[in-house]
Amino acid sequence: MSTAAEVLQGSDDRQVGPSGSQVAPTDQRMALTLKIRRYNPEVSPDPWWDEFQVKMEPTDRLLDALHEVKWRQDGTLALRRSCAHGVCGSDAMLINGRNALACKVLVQDVAPKATVEPIRGLTVLKDLIVDMEPFFEGYKSVLPFLVNDSGEPDKERLQSPEERERYDDTTKCILCAACTTSCPIFWGDDEYVGPAAIVNAHRFIFDSRDQGGRERLKILSEKTGVFRCRTTFNCTDACPRGIQVTKAIQEVKRSILFDRF
Ligand code: SF4
Ligand code: F3S
Ligand code: FES
Repeated sequence: MSTAAEVLQGSDDRQVGPSGSQVAPTDQRMALTLKIRRYNPEVSPDPWWDEFQVKMEPTDRLLDALHEVKWRQDGTLALRRSCAHGVCGSDAMLINGRNALACKVLVQDVAPKATVEPIRGLTVLKDLIVDMEPFFEGYKSVLPFLVNDSGEPDKERLQSPEERERYDDTTKCILCAACTTSCPIFWGDDEYVGPAAIVNAHRFIFDSRDQGGRERLKILSEKTGVFRCRTTFNCTDACPRGIQVTKAIQEVKRSILFDRF
């Protein structure tokens, strides 16, 4: 049986991973420098850059590295996250100049250095946290819910596999805002509803059970709608769910032009 001293000695040799799990002593961790754009109006009216050094497992996520900074080096660092698995959409940020979810970027893909900034086109509140209200206003403006006034059905509204397939891609949106905040039109024009709102309108416009398509198309034909898009494709490149955002926008444009809603 081990003595208390041996148990303590043994525990000293082990390391604790970012998730709290114990990891083997063989150290394959990588050095990573995080250069983070900071902003705190209570400290300075201007943003500034801070650098932090961390050692992480190659397969840790950039979100783990940000936790390492926040939990062990600087508790004032502000960021949003929840699921840590690419589902909730709350940790979109600019990583080495490209919009991405911090929980889906591996440390080994960015080491030895990663630059982290808040997403663009929305007001920064603190560090990596932006005001998402204008984004959600655009989303809400396109009626992103099923509209059907034919009364309560006795059973579920049936749909063929082909009808379901028609809007399958746009059901995958997690409202992370990576698309909208990578769009140069949105950066210069906060009236534009932005690609995420159009994706969520598309999801219902092409749903055979929905009756609100005409109203949505009317909203999106206005000057704040789809015709602001200049087919730049940044949105498609940025989408962490692989949604064909620009294609969805084109389909909505075509519907407005040719379906005579
Ligand atoms: Fe995020 Fe993609 Fe939805 Fe845009 S379309 S909000 S990038 S999941
Ligand atoms: Fe913007 Fe995407 Fe159109 S980046 S211009 S919404 S194709
Ligand atoms: Fe939920 Fe990254 S923390 S998507």
